[in-house]
Amino acid sequence: MTNSESTSAASQGVGQRWSSRWLFILAAAGSAVGLGNIWKFPYIAGENGGGVFVAIYLGCVAAVGIPIMISEVLLGRQGRSSPIHTMRSLSQRAGASGRWTALGWLGVVTGFLILSYYGVIAGWTLHYVWLSMSGAFAGADGASVGATFDAFLADPWALVFYQTLFMALTIWIVGRGVTRGIEAAIRWFMPLLFLLLLVLFIYSLNSGGFAQGWAFMFDLKWDAVSSDTVLIAMGQAFFTLSLGMGTMMAYGAYVPEDANLGTTVVSIAALDTFIAIAAGLVIFPIVFANGLEVGQGPGLTFVTLPLAFSQMPFGEVFGGIFFLLISFAAITSAISLTEPALSYLVEEYNAKRQRVALSLGVICWLLGLGTVFSFNIWSDMMIVGDLNFFGFLDYLSQNIMLPLGGMLIAFFAMWLLPKELMYKQLGITNPAVGWAWRILAGVVAPVGVLVVFVSTLWPVLASLLGL
Ligand code: PFF
Repeated sequence: MTNSESTSAASQGVGQRWSSRWLFILAAAGSAVGLGNIWKFPYIAGENGGGVFVAIYLGCVAAVGIPIMISEVLLGRQGRSSPIHTMRSLSQRAGASGRWTALGWLGVVTGFLILSYYGVIAGWTLHYVWLSMSGAFAGADGASVGATFDAFLADPWALVFYQTLFMALTIWIVGRGVTRGIEAAIRWFMPLLFLLLLVLFIYSLNSGGFAQGWAFMFDLKWDAVSSDTVLIAMGQAFFTLSLGMGTMMAYGAYVPEDANLGTTVVSIAALDTFIAIAAGLVIFPIVFANGLEVGQGPGLTFVTLPLAFSQMPFGEVFGGIFFLLISFAAITSAISLTEPALSYLVEEYNAKRQRVALSLGVICWLLGLGTVFSFNIWSDMMIVGDLNFFGFLDYLSQNIMLPLGGMLIAFFAMWLLPKELMYKQLGITNPAVGWAWRILAGVVAPVGVLVVFVSTLWPVLASLLGL
């Protein structure tokens, strides 16, 4: 390859490498840290009793999340291409059925579905940056903050406007390529995200509700646990770690050869968990300090928090900082949601990254209109049971497609990929360590997911079959 050819291939993403192991950690953490950590985690923890949920969630991250993430990244680095091509070449190499390529396709489809609604919700956070900073909530009461949110959701044009803004930004960044687009965004957004979180953390420490917030997160009240708690915690672990759809495989394809995958993945999971916990420790104390309730569901971020900020000194500034923080977190995740499909199309058709990014963005945007309408004109149109379009996509992607993908990825990496390749990728030389690893990643993790998978699906199947 001549110099100019390799530069142009590099700008397309083909054959690219992260500039360093550290940048991969930041990029993967950027993918993992998103709406799942700052919007979803606190409200799910709030609805499920706090401490015990947090403990179970941490257990899921350690026992299932980390082994599956290692499996995904190692397949990516071994295949060195998009998830679809990686699964195709590795299944050939393993002498396994070519049907495993479908796992790559499953990831592409899941990414589309998630990004379509992710772009809509992330758009809300952009709107709330503006609302908070412009002082729209200053001195407002609970009813008017609630009414502002309801009025926003009822207006499809407003939702589409912010969805479009967010999607355009995402597509512009990914179209620029791995180094000039993704890395450049990560280099800015991740340090800023940490800084904003730190500022808010200090604010929350002084809010007067910190002890109560801390106790809510870490006191183990076992009576709040039900079998559902485990399912929800596991689904959350998948979503928040960006597992099961080939994102980590796609990012893994660019990991330098000499990076130690075990320590790298543990750092990513630790960063993601740290940020979810920190978000809880920012949100709960502020909510408690204002005598509000934490179990408010999805409205925790968009109603309860703006209300809390409206009652605090400098609430506009800190409210604005908070929503800016979620927007940054959301964009680095949205970027990663496009990578499995984008890398495939670029490789397969030798197409221009910008052009592919634009087409993918337009399709996702169109699909996202279904989510926009789910909050207004289609809110009562149910697709299955009591799930409207958005509810259905959310359920299907998080509870079915991600666990299914994650389980199959771990199974393939552990039992079908030649053992030497896996050991080489992980730098395992001691057979005892190899066995311990295979039991954890090849048995505990997939079986754990299977149990969750079946118990999530069974009631749905049973009701559909009339059992
Ligand atoms: N991990 C992201 C979050 O917590 O918001 C969401 C996500 C990104 C899920 C990328 C899946 C994915 F592949």
